[in-house]
Amino acid sequence: MVLPPFPESYWLTSESLPNFPKLTQDIKADVAIVGAGISGITTAYLLSKQGLKVAIVEAGNILNGTTGHTTAKITAQHDLIYDEFLSHFGREQTRLYYEANREAMQFIKQTVRELRIDCDFAEEDAYIYTNSDKYAAKLTAELAAYEKLGIPGAYVEQTPLPFRTQAAIVMHDQARFNPVPYLKTLIRQVTGQGGQIYEHTTAVSVEKGNPPAVVTSEGHKIVCSHIVSCSHFPFQDGWGFYFARMYAERSYVLGVKTEKAYPGGMYISAEDPKRSLRAVTANGETLVLIGGENHKTGQGIPTIKHYEALQAFGEEHFGLKEIRYRWSAQDLTTLDKLPFIGPIAADAPQVLVATGYKKWGMTTGTAAALLIEKLIAGQESPYQSLFTPSRFHADPGLKTLLVQNADVAKHLIAGKLEMVRKKPEELGNDEGAVVSVNGKRAGAYRDPQGGLHIVDTTCTHMGCEVEWNEGERTWDCPCHGSRFSYKGEVLEGPAKKPLKIL
Ligand code: FES
Repeated sequence: MVLPPFPESYWLTSESLPNFPKLTQDIKADVAIVGAGISGITTAYLLSKQGLKVAIVEAGNILNGTTGHTTAKITAQHDLIYDEFLSHFGREQTRLYYEANREAMQFIKQTVRELRIDCDFAEEDAYIYTNSDKYAAKLTAELAAYEKLGIPGAYVEQTPLPFRTQAAIVMHDQARFNPVPYLKTLIRQVTGQGGQIYEHTTAVSVEKGNPPAVVTSEGHKIVCSHIVSCSHFPFQDGWGFYFARMYAERSYVLGVKTEKAYPGGMYISAEDPKRSLRAVTANGETLVLIGGENHKTGQGIPTIKHYEALQAFGEEHFGLKEIRYRWSAQDLTTLDKLPFIGPIAADAPQVLVATGYKKWGMTTGTAAALLIEKLIAGQESPYQSLFTPSRFHADPGLKTLLVQNADVAKHLIAGKLEMVRKKPEELGNDEGAVVSVNGKRAGAYRDPQGGLHIVDTTCTHMGCEVEWNEGERTWDCPCHGSRFSYKGEVLEGPAKKPLKIL
């Protein structure tokens, strides 16, 4: 069985999306939102309902980032997290994390019902399972944390899955959906209230002042009273060093038809390599989404191997009839694993940021929108101090900061010292590699028609050397996760400038 040659997300192909224009003039709004994923669009929806005029700008196409490449689980079961959070942040703060996500789940459910959105929303149980003694003990500790926190859950030995598991814990009544029709409906509500949306419009800086303005790469301004950055890395440089306080990971999904019937439910393995499972039902057929294989962006084995590992897992446990889709996503994790939601810096209360949802952005991204709505309205929220980006927890923040920055330094140096012997003329069609051009390191990709694209592999963010991602045909930076197309265009920040074409 062969993998589809190019990555394509089921969500983005299952539904057509409207096109929006590029911003070509200065405009005014009450709130400018940068980034059109789930947190940006939900924030716009909530603020529009309050009568505020919003303007959303998106560097690419709406929903084409992580929101369009998710597994779309709506859950407060975020892998093994509650026992760890209890020991770092205590009972009250950890319970608030659960409550914020629980409220976000309720909000999505209620919105689907209120607006009658046909988005394959269904409530399902969520399981973390294991086949190792070490992780069975961790599951016991996680369940003990659920009990301390008053989170409903249970320990089971066998899940409904058609293969043996040693142990699992279940959180009942979680949910899953298709985020594209859901968010399309919210977008219609936003534009119906006079909200404006601009695609292919890159926000590059904030002009401080009263009122402040978002400035785009083409020099146009959105003058507004509040700015919300919902892009992965805040688009404004120099505030808060976010690139050093979060790390980027990629993970992979296959959408497959299986021989064995899928039993329902959502699953994630406790141990690595991660395996995530859920099903999608559309037009009377069921597709199983097999996800996992996360790793730091730009690091590790050739990316196509990750898809192959998911394929082998699917074949072993479900029997594969067809691999219809494959896609991947990028997620950011903060040093203490709590998202950053709130003022971007202490001296910039009008500029808010929402990012760092790990892999749980459907739920936590919605929680972010609910909190930002309150912050903009000047209302108190119980979650404000928990998620504030200006927090600093010495443990685990400091330890992780040191490890992350040692990792960045290692990749910065390793990339510069690497000996490269391959020449561009050795590449076959649809092949890319780091090559030597006039004795210097360069990145080359020969497209399926034989055209050669050569770029300078020095990342335009802080100078690390990008690596070839053969699964997606992109250049990925191992230091802070910037990604570039094979032509050098920026796909993911923190880099803002394209790679130099050679
Ligand atoms: Fe920071 Fe490349 S993303 S150096």
